[in-house]
Order: sequence, then structure tokens, then C-alpha cells
Amino acid sequence: MKVLIATEKPFAAAAVDGIRKEVEAAGHTLALLEKYTEKTQLLDAVKDADALIIRSDKADADVFNAAKNLKIVVRAGAGYDNIDLAAATAHNVVAENTPGQNSNAVAELVLGLLVYAVRNFYNGKSGSELKGKKLGILAFGNVGRNVARIAKGFGMEVYAYDAFCPKNVIEEAGVKAVDSQEALFENCDIVSLHIPATPETKQSINYALVNKLHKGGILINTARKEVINEPELIKLLGEREDLKFITDIKPEADADFAKFEGRYFTTPKKMGAQTAEANINAGIAAAKQIKAFFANGDTKFQVNK
Ligand code: 3PG
Repeated sequence: MKVLIATEKPFAAAAVDGIRKEVEAAGHTLALLEKYTEKTQLLDAVKDADALIIRSDKADADVFNAAKNLKIVVRAGAGYDNIDLAAATAHNVVAENTPGQNSNAVAELVLGLLVYAVRNFYNGKSGSELKGKKLGILAFGNVGRNVARIAKGFGMEVYAYDAFCPKNVIEEAGVKAVDSQEALFENCDIVSLHIPATPETKQSINYALVNKLHKGGILINTARKEVINEPELIKLLGEREDLKFITDIKPEADADFAKFEGRYFTTPKKMGAQTAEANINAGIAAAKQIKAFFANGDTKFQVNK
């Protein structure tokens, strides 16, 4: 079987080596398409692939139409909003993700960005500390849980809201569970977003919600840009000079946000999962899942059931 890694944002070399070892040990072959700039390159590369490993790369209907031999696509990572699941199903392709494999990397970035934010982007002026601040975690999944663990080490008071996770699971992690996302924003100095981009969450982080943050509040997004209502957040930042917005996903309206100098920061390219460890964990998990699928039809991590 031919396994193709197609990553516009490449894995660390050690991750590619690890994937290659897994794939070849099972008698499959590995092909690599990295840093591609045109969709046509992807469409060409998938033509004879039996399995596909991607990151945030878009696997849309065109990709499934072009990939005549494709049986499985694995998103090496958590969020699979980049895969057209209906198109995958229509082409009898199993779509999977690798939950949890890169979550520590994203969580570490959250705390790193927060230190940067409360120290005024290291501009030399006196800033503040995270210790004692109230941190709200929106969605207590793999990343949210890691953020909670690290934030407690900083001495932060940690709150969380998750529509699907029982309160007792949150409380057992030493985190205060609140009843709604409104309550989370109302109670906290900082809110960190860890919700997926779904029809329900898209544009859900809006003026009314973020306006509930305490004075001097920070909104930090390492999830997806689609969950932010950008025009409303821009309006709010214009009205409330005490607020900061920190993001690992460059907004559509980056130029408008950039006007809030000293209160807005975006990474140039999504950096959350950009560590060797996260790449190795997620990449090798993807390779193992593909091996198990071809060896015995294992579909444990299938997301298009
Ligand atoms: C994920 O959903 O796993 C993260 O957002 C990381 O995405 P990336 O692999 O494109 O960096």
C-alpha cells in the first residue's frame, strides 16, 4: 500500500523518519509531499495513494475525487474540520484523527503566550503575573486539561466549562466547573479557547460574551479562527482599552486587529502543535492507525461513522 504524507506545514524530520519506519516495517511504501503551495500538487500526489496523512491540510471533495485508491485519511492532530467527512464517506474512505497526541504542545504554548501578554510583549514596562489570576478554560478536552495542569503550576485559579464533560470530571482535576460559557467569562480574568469549529461554535465568541471578562482581561485562542466573531471582537477591543486578544491562528481581519498595538498578538503561522514531540506523537500514531487498519480493519479512531 502507498501511504502519502501531505503536509503544507511539514512535520519535524524526526517525525517523518518515525512514520517511515512504521510504514516500511509493515511492508508499505511512503511518499512525501511537503510545503506544497498549489492544490493541484496535492491532487496530483493523492492519485495513487491508498492512505493519506495530513495536518490542517484541506481534504475536500476534490481530493477524494482525485484519490481513486484512497481507503483511509488520518489527520495527525485533533481537529478534523479540514476534512469533508461527507465526501470521505461518499468515497468509502475512513477518516480518523489522533486525539491527545499534540495537546501538551498546544497547552504549553498557551501559557507561554500568556506570560508574553501579561509582561506587555516584553516591551520593558512593568507587567503583571499569572499567579492568582482566574483562568477560564472553554472546553475541557485534551488540550484544556493540559492547560489546567500547567496553569495550576503557575498558581492560577482555574475554572472550566464544557457542554459535554460532566462537572465531576472537571472538579476531580482540581478545576472549578461553571454552568455556562457566560459564567466562565464573567468569573475570569483570562479565557482560553479549546472548542472545535463546528456549526454550533462558529462565530460564538462574540461581543456580549467577551465583554463579560474582568477589567484587564485576556482572550486567548489556540483553537480555530472560525469560532471568533471577528467584527464584534474588533468593536469590543475598540471600546474596551483594557482588553487583550492573543491568538495562534491569524484572523481574517488581522490588519484591523493589528491596530490595537500592545493588546493584540498573533503567531504568523499556527504554532501550537509545532514541536518535534507533538509531530512525532501525532505522526507515528497516524502511521500505527493506518497499519492497524490495513492489517485487521481497525477503525477505533474513525470520525466519519
Ligand atoms: C490540531 O487540531 O491538532 C491542532 O490545531 C494542530 O494543527 P496543525 O497540525 O495544523 O498544527
